[in-house]
Amino acid sequence: MAKVTIDNIEIEVPDGTSILNAARMIGGDIVPPAMCYYSKLKDSGGKCRTCLVKVTKGSEKDPRPMPKLVASCRTPVQDGMVVQNSTSQEVVETRNGIVEMLLINHPLDCPVCDQAGECDLQNLAYDHGKEATRYEFDRRTFDKIDIGDKIQLHMTRCILCYRCVYTADQITNNRVHGILGRGDASEISTYIEKAIDNDFSGNIIDVCPVGALTDKTYRFKNRVWFTKPVDAHRDCPTCSGKVVMWYKGEEVIRITGRKDVNGELEEFICNTCRFEKKATSDWIIEGPRKIDDKSVISQNHYLADRMKPVIDKIV
Ligand code: SF4
Ligand code: FES
Repeated sequence: MAKVTIDNIEIEVPDGTSILNAARMIGGDIVPPAMCYYSKLKDSGGKCRTCLVKVTKGSEKDPRPMPKLVASCRTPVQDGMVVQNSTSQEVVETRNGIVEMLLINHPLDCPVCDQAGECDLQNLAYDHGKEATRYEFDRRTFDKIDIGDKIQLHMTRCILCYRCVYTADQITNNRVHGILGRGDASEISTYIEKAIDNDFSGNIIDVCPVGALTDKTYRFKNRVWFTKPVDAHRDCPTCSGKVVMWYKGEEVIRITGRKDVNGELEEFICNTCRFEKKATSDWIIEGPRKIDDKSVISQNHYLADRMKPVIDKIV
């Protein structure tokens, strides 16, 4: 076991735990944002740098601070390590710079993007974004690509986090896409725009932290904060069958996997559950999905309940 202190909170974690996962064990606001790391995907992390932290004491044995900020998702804790995340001005300023860089090529199309309201980059930009860009050159542009009949790729929104590549590689039996090119010519590609069609390919939509991979069956159907999410399950021979159904009135407009507090899927679901079972009668409804109060998704849903005591006082 190793004792580590993150933003003045001490915790003991198993040897080999990354700083990010140690912070997640503590939870709350001290957890660094992670746009590329995904605990269920082997080798993920180390791409986006949003999780950088400052190590002010390396370990009990060697207390020297680390000379540069380190990626918390890729740096294991040492016994006696002391880490600063939001308590370090250097970390906050660097993170602001990283967000500015991620937004260099990212279009500001949140008003029409299906991911708006549940986009990690949008959330990060609220906390760390600047009002204006200093970038003067033309942004990269790409045509939209259909990856099969259910998924659409908007490469302009991609931040090259590799999550979808690892997902396709590790949980489907037939990876047919990857990242081609280098530097600002890098792009997610299926080589010959080949369909990604295997049982679990739809999960690349859920792991994408931005709106680069979208569900064509849900495109432009609604803003997520107007929908009503409920937990439901079915007896599925391929996956756990545990999903979230997103209702617009009586209609199920989208089915996704269930995400945990870190925004990661609890379990990967199959394409049949995701795309083919859109009738309420296909599912056993468990009840309303618990959504974080801070999320824009919970807006509009519970207002009447919250307002009732206030309204009762007035009338
Ligand atoms: S398409 Fe999405 S998941 Fe894939 S690399 Fe780009 S941002 Fe990451
Ligand atoms: S989450 Fe650590 S580098 Fe992306």
